[in-house]
Amino acid sequence: MSVQPLRIGVIGAGTVGREVVRALLDRSPRLQPADGAPLVLAGVAVRNVERAIAAGVPEELLTDAPAHLVASDEIDVLVELAGGDEPARTLIAAALGTGKAVVTANKHVVAHHGAELERIAREAESPLRFEAAVAGGVPVLGPLALDLAANRVARVRGIVNGTTNYMLTAMAREGREYADVLEDAQARGYAEADPTADVEGLDAVNKLVILARLVFGHWLAPEAIGNRPGTTRGEAGSPGITGVTADDVAALAAEGRTIRLLATARLAEDGAIEASVVPTALPGGSAFGRCDGVLNRIEVDAAPVGRVAFEGPGAGGAATSSAVLGDLVAVARGQGSTWAGLPAATARSRIEVRPVAGECVAAPSGACYPVGD
Ligand SMILES: NC(=O)c1ccc[n+]([C@@H]2O[C@H](COP(=O)([O-])OP(=O)(O)OC[C@H]3O[C@@H](n4cnc5c(N)ncnc54)[C@H](OP(=O)(O)O)[C@@H]3O)[C@@H](O)[C@H]2O)c1
Repeated sequence: MSVQPLRIGVIGAGTVGREVVRALLDRSPRLQPADGAPLVLAGVAVRNVERAIAAGVPEELLTDAPAHLVASDEIDVLVELAGGDEPARTLIAAALGTGKAVVTANKHVVAHHGAELERIAREAESPLRFEAAVAGGVPVLGPLALDLAANRVARVRGIVNGTTNYMLTAMAREGREYADVLEDAQARGYAEADPTADVEGLDAVNKLVILARLVFGHWLAPEAIGNRPGTTRGEAGSPGITGVTADDVAALAAEGRTIRLLATARLAEDGAIEASVVPTALPGGSAFGRCDGVLNRIEVDAAPVGRVAFEGPGAGGAATSSAVLGDLVAVARGQGSTWAGLPAATARSRIEVRPVAGECVAAPSGACYPVGD
């Protein structure tokens, strides 16, 4: 019996989209699961068609009207790789609402509109998959929702932003100041021209929101998660790693500690969730302390399994395309959404969210860095 091909529409042919498009054009037969539908690229939407042609996307597949792609009867699955809030949110919601499967790498949209999109996906019975939204190429959401589903998770922690990890690693190795390594990271393409989302920890907050959905069953408000020690967000222009100085890095290194931007969420005894994204002083020899450069690492403490860790390339077009293509294979196999069989969470949670409590260690700048293990 022949299986109907899965016709794929991709929005965005940038760093990640380009790799996904190339894979679908070059090795589609190898991507077809033995027990699922063939994957066929049916259209690609971008803003600048000429640029996409120059990047090797066949002209006949291109459009500059993503809404038409979403509305088309010739498309079964939307792959959203444009990024940002709008129009991505509206396009994803429209695709789900009309019964199309959606695969996205957009952590901003999933973190800020996850509850609404989950509701639409569940009502329309359309799969929504977003493995690439956390830790790029590292498969972590699938294992949390499926393989670890029998566990009760006490804590999830991670280095989930490669840009800031690259910068903190360079500060520690070379004794350089924040502004200097930021310039270097921008020159190497690891940091964007506007680095705010990375350096202020907002990107890591988005990823923590998504992790918390899968391990604790709640869509937390990103605004409820603090990105400076001991606080919730609220003030504009908050630290993330922007306040980390070369003197702080050196002083903590002299005590055998390494500073890493750590995203942490844990269940408190009273049922609240403690969640923070803050530069944290970790033992230099610990697995997080040794997680260098653009690598990502996520650790989950759960019962009965104990501690499970995931580490690997958290960004980059090729690595991230691995997660997007994996999600497409899952759709082709009829595997459903990333949350798999977990209970529904179709509204923003009202659970109390507060900063992660614990000791901190004083540094020359006057900052007190939370101590991690
Ligand atoms: N880069 C990574 O390492 C990485 C890792 C994990 C997740 N992600 C996520 O993956 C997504 C894509 O990231 P990226 O780095 O590939 O971005 P990018 O290089 O900036 O590419 C974005 C692409 O989307 C297109 N686009 C943007 N807005 C559009 C619109 N309104 N209509 C049609 N096309 C539009 C752009 O078209 P034009 O070129 O014509 O403007 C471009 O082709 C983001 O959500 C990002 O957070 C990225």
